[in-house]
Amino acid sequence: MQDTGPKKKLYMETYGCQMNVADSEVVVALMEQEGYELTERMDEASLILVNTCSIRENAEQRIWGRLDVFRQQKQKHPQTRVGVIGCMAERLKDRLIEREKSVDLVIGPDAYRALPDLLEQVESGQKGVNTLLSREETYGDILPVRAGKNNISAFISIMRGCNNMCSYCIVPYVRGRERSRDPQTILREVRELAQSGYREITLIGQNVDSYHWKGSQGEAYPFAWLLDQVARIDANLRIRFSTSHPKDLSDQVLEAMARHSNICKHIHLPVQSGSSQVLKAMNRGYTREWYQNRIDAIRSRLPGAEITTDIMTGFPSETEADHRETLSLMEYAHYDFAYMFKYSERPGTRAARRMEDDVPEAVKKKRLQEIIELQNKRSASSKERAVGKTYRVLVEGTSKKSDQDHHGRNSQNQVVVFPKGETHVGDFVDVYIEQATPGTLIGKQVKSQ
Ligand code: 5AD
Ligand code: SF4
Repeated sequence: MQDTGPKKKLYMETYGCQMNVADSEVVVALMEQEGYELTERMDEASLILVNTCSIRENAEQRIWGRLDVFRQQKQKHPQTRVGVIGCMAERLKDRLIEREKSVDLVIGPDAYRALPDLLEQVESGQKGVNTLLSREETYGDILPVRAGKNNISAFISIMRGCNNMCSYCIVPYVRGRERSRDPQTILREVRELAQSGYREITLIGQNVDSYHWKGSQGEAYPFAWLLDQVARIDANLRIRFSTSHPKDLSDQVLEAMARHSNICKHIHLPVQSGSSQVLKAMNRGYTREWYQNRIDAIRSRLPGAEITTDIMTGFPSETEADHRETLSLMEYAHYDFAYMFKYSERPGTRAARRMEDDVPEAVKKKRLQEIIELQNKRSASSKERAVGKTYRVLVEGTSKKSDQDHHGRNSQNQVVVFPKGETHVGDFVDVYIEQATPGTLIGKQVKSQ
């Protein structure tokens, strides 16, 4: 029976990628059904949940730091329950239970439905633990409670897990096998969001290009089909997607993007390295030449599109010549933006088992610095190319730097700042770009034709 007394409060912190943000929204939905209400104040929470990331060692270090804070909170309020959920819960289950007396719940990414039962178990004096991975779970039937405050953009998870087995990567171990979500539940969610005033949705998955739904007659529905269906729902609803995998990004996807003006002209295409040898050691499934071919295909089918990427330096065996190849591929691709990392060995991965982490820390650092410097130049020149152009911008909120200005993004995913005038959050506004900084375009509204 629904509790009619004052609602219990849930305080939640989310780390890691967009998938974790979307998962936290599912968890909030599940807990609201149990009579919980979200709070931003940890001190009034009866349940603290931290959704965690394991991708690099420093992601986990950060969580251990947060657990110290939660422990102190629990000392003040012993009735508070603390749960570690997500990727780090999956990876470090035993260690979390043994090392952290204050942690009551440890729940992996596929076991969130068990949360209410596990909480009951905690009340009876045990720890609540479930880190079973699933081959089917997509949470497709659960309507997430959106965490974003502006009610105009939302993530929609279309698949879970990953089958790629890149040799450095922990994801397949903590998120399990790849599975696609029933398209009918995806389309329903998009329709509902459009009807309630959302203006942008981002379809997310570890590798959206390998989205694959099998119909009742065995017919295949790939990502390009899904993209097309989603784009048709509402011409005024912007569609984004992430993350693409270079080995799977198909011409059909590029064609769907070209066909629909509401599919944003931005592709996040993690390259990791520009050296075919390193890519092979990483088990990425493509070569430098293949990646360049995908860049060419994007440039020819989607002129003016922006490409962003992830780059990793210091993977085992990476030589100075390999590193130079990464720099030269960055020049070739002319990325608008990049996430750049030093290789961090993850226990249990193929690279950790079979390869020596042999690039010295100082060399990793130096290479990372060179990559960052080059990318800063590239980002600046990509922004400069936008000066003098007019873009349609979706207004997302007030600029951090001035309350007289709005910020939003163009189709290419570049951040644009302009004087508010009569515009409102959620409007599409045509903005003429007058100036560029490495991270932001600055302009003024022009009246639509
Ligand atoms: N070390 C450093 N970076 C990593 N990434 C994934 N695994 C590791 C690791 N072990 C980076 C990749 C990936 C992004 C999400 O994180 O660049 O695309
Ligand atoms: Fe971190 Fe990867 Fe888990 Fe996302 S899927 S939270 S990036 S470990």
